Amino acid sequence: MVGLQGAGKSTWVAEHLAGTHVVVSKDHWPNARHREARQRRVVAQLLAEGASVVVDNTDPSPAERAALVELAVAAGVPVRAVFLDVPLETCRRRNDARTGRARVPDVGLFSTAARLVPPSTVEGFTDVQVVAG
Ligand SMILES: Nc1ncnc2c1ncn2[C@@H]1O[C@H](COP(=O)(O)OP(=O)(O)O)[C@@H](O)[C@H]1O
Ligand SMILES: [Mg+2]
Repeated sequence: MVGLQGAGKSTWVAEHLAGTHVVVSKDHWPNARHREARQRRVVAQLLAEGASVVVDNTDPSPAERAALVELAVAAGVPVRAVFLDVPLETCRRRNDARTGRARVPDVGLFSTAARLVPPSTVEGFTDVQVVAG
């Protein structure tokens, strides 16, 4: 998954992949140290077990997605990007409406938006799906 905070990634995952894929997200362990490394280990383990996996993070830049593409290639499985292409203002509005941990400071959204590069097959994705919002 690729998209800003509030773009609708988790909603899309719940609607389209919940029955078939194991959902992995750093949001599941917000306080853990070395969350990146931990996520890579979890994804690698699941792929080794033959599970289909969806990674539900913002992953806005090619650099932030590269390790996941590599894990899929190493496991010999196709890797698809689903990009929730939603305007920043829409995401800000949805974020504002959230409460608790789900709501991030605006600066977090701006930072992610500044790093955002739409995913491309050039990065190694087998397929790129754009969901407009
Ligand atoms: N297609 C949509 N249209 C309108 N609101 C949506 C849509 N998808 C999600 N939302 C709402 O936007 C908020 C953020 O959705 P969520 O899926 O948690 O985003 P993300 O996981 O990308 O941060 C939630 O309140 C959700 O109900
Ligand atoms: Mg989410």
